Amino acid sequence: MTLHPNAIDLFDPQVQQDPYEAYRVLRDEAPVWKMPGTGWYVVTRHADVAEVVRKPDVYSMRVGAKLDNPYQRDPAVYRIFKEEGWVNPGSLSTDPPVHARYRSLVDVSFTAKRVRAMESEIEKLCHALVDRFTANGEEHVELIRHLAVPLPMQVIAERLGLPLDDLPRLKAWSDAWVEPFAMNLGPERRREVARANVALQHYLVEKLEEKRRHPGQDILSDLVAARFDGQRPLDTRELLSIAEQVLVGGNETTTNAIASGVKLLIEHPDQEAALRADPSLLPNFVEEVLRLESPTQGLFRVAAKDAVLHDVAIPEGSLVHLRFGAANRDPRQFRDPDRLDLHRTNARTHLAFSQGAHVCLGAPLARQEMQIAFRVLLERLEALRFSEGANDFRYAPGFTLRALEALHLDFRSRR
Ligand code: HEM
Repeated sequence: MTLHPNAIDLFDPQVQQDPYEAYRVLRDEAPVWKMPGTGWYVVTRHADVAEVVRKPDVYSMRVGAKLDNPYQRDPAVYRIFKEEGWVNPGSLSTDPPVHARYRSLVDVSFTAKRVRAMESEIEKLCHALVDRFTANGEEHVELIRHLAVPLPMQVIAERLGLPLDDLPRLKAWSDAWVEPFAMNLGPERRREVARANVALQHYLVEKLEEKRRHPGQDILSDLVAARFDGQRPLDTRELLSIAEQVLVGGNETTTNAIASGVKLLIEHPDQEAALRADPSLLPNFVEEVLRLESPTQGLFRVAAKDAVLHDVAIPEGSLVHLRFGAANRDPRQFRDPDRLDLHRTNARTHLAFSQGAHVCLGAPLARQEMQIAFRVLLERLEALRFSEGANDFRYAPGFTLRALEALHLDFRSRR
């Protein structure tokens, strides 16, 4: 029986575990769907999502206070930021022309050239992590904790110029930072999360001060030295807004992408064999992972004026939700979209990193980390399989991120 769009509930944790049938119905039956109980317009077709992200004059990034996320709406949360920390001005969540002025200050740190220069360090780190879990002849690992979390976390902490001893608390703060995106927090947890965010802010303010006194070759030092429009330094709120987004963006989603990729590999032994035989297919595998299991399933824009999308009138001020995870399985864009296809010629047109002015800053780095992780795992481990009875393949319940909670694997070590 086919689902009716109005029977779909994207807040339902069961739908969040496996949202793809719901996405299919929405794409086919209601591609611009006024989501019951919210007033949001949910966009699920590839061409429509691509159109929205490319029209910032119509679909603005200044979602801010419009977002009826209980976290953003909670006055207690606002008070905590106002009185104990800093209210985030969303410096990168701005529209042209202001956005480009902020963005240019961080783009320099993530050019293809800069990212290529990090390759051997990332590879070394990846080998070191595998060494650790294969020491003493171990042939079992929970991969998220032992590789998918520490790899991107350590890479981004080093790029920011943060000490590796701080990784555990940086990870805890980062996890708290993304929690509100799940849109399912109760009042008490909302306050705890806000306090964790404020603790991260105080930590970063201290580090930024250190960089001011002793600059290094890192992003925090670059931000302290940056001049907005070539003139004024960034103030504390701007510095924090950008640094927090780079820190969190730099680890959470890449962790999820690596975990999803390894799961897909094991589920497709023929494709795993093809990758082992021809590692030049790895870049396209990375794109297919991002397409099939988009770590960021959806994000918002707000209509800056009355708009019409797919014959649906969207009044000014409405929230428009872009469902990247649905667009990336749209058969109008990808033939046989649910299939992992290492030879798909347009895999890279997926929207997992969005497009347009706000296209993910860290996309080149994330792609590189994923490629290296998959290559090293294939080199170092064989007979990769799910540990029997140990996995429930549960994704953390949430509206925005697709995050596998654990991945227990057995393998034979190759050296
Ligand atoms: C697989 C990993 C990743 C995925 C799926 C991902 C996804 C995204 C998406 C969907 C956006 C939003 C674009 C929009 O609203 O149109 C974004 C923006 C952003 N990402 Fe990523 N990201 C990943 C990795 C990273 C990494 C490694 C970094 C840090 C180096 C990073 C930093 C950022 C920043 C700072 C933005 C805001 C850009 C702007 O608004 O100008 N991301 N990312």
